[in-house]
Amino acid sequence: MRTRKAVVTDAREVHDLIAQFSGDGTLLPRRYNEICENIRDFVVVEHRGRILACGALHIYGPHLAEVRSIAVTPEAQGRGAGQRVVKTLLVEAERHQITRVCLFTRIPEFFGRLGFITSQREELPDKMFKDCVACPRLHCCDEIAMVLAHSAAERAAARRDYRSASNGEARRLVQIARAQ
Ligand SMILES: CC(C)(COP(=O)(O)OP(=O)(O)OC[C@H]1O[C@@H](n2cnc3c(N)ncnc32)[C@H](O)[C@@H]1OP(=O)(O)O)[C@@H](O)C(=O)NCCC(=O)NCCS
Repeated sequence: MRTRKAVVTDAREVHDLIAQFSGDGTLLPRRYNEICENIRDFVVVEHRGRILACGALHIYGPHLAEVRSIAVTPEAQGRGAGQRVVKTLLVEAERHQITRVCLFTRIPEFFGRLGFITSQREELPDKMFKDCVACPRLHCCDEIAMVLAHSAAERAAARRDYRSASNGEARRLVQIARAQ
């Protein structure tokens, strides 16, 4: 498996990969044109010339970037490709010296293991104005806002909490986050 920055000739495969998970609302749909225009946001994981995973870092400014469109083909899931994508995007955010990295998800357990902690969507107005205001689920959104913990110690604690949590405990962490 090789992780690399996407190039525009990857756009069709990236589009089809994201489309596999946007029909049921797991991911926001992305048009082919939109992916071409924003291809420099994307990283991909490839194996033998085939794209197995993708993800993007959308930069709002030095104060905020968003990890989005994380997808792994069903056959390649559970082999570390998803984690590779997110870690590569976080290196990119660090390279730009971005002070806050956020994401919206229904699987906080996956991102908690990568050092993200739950947040409040109201603390992320850039995201609210970019996507949420036009979303039909604005007032019944079931996604959880998360931000990368600031310090290495906080990130390690988040990883420990989510890694050591049993399924039941992880669900409880999520319920607490939803109730906040
Ligand atoms: C979620 C997804 C990106 C994970 O990618 P993956 O390559 O299968 O995951 P990895 O092999 O990197 O798993 C890393 C860790 O996350 C855990 N994990 C994987 N999928 C998970 C999920 N859906 N929920 C919670 N934890 C998950 C794994 O158990 C593993 O834990 P470990 O390190 O303690 O063993 C992938 O399953 C996917 O594309 N799902 C459909 C699209 C989607 O939901 N995208 C995210 C939207 S925010």
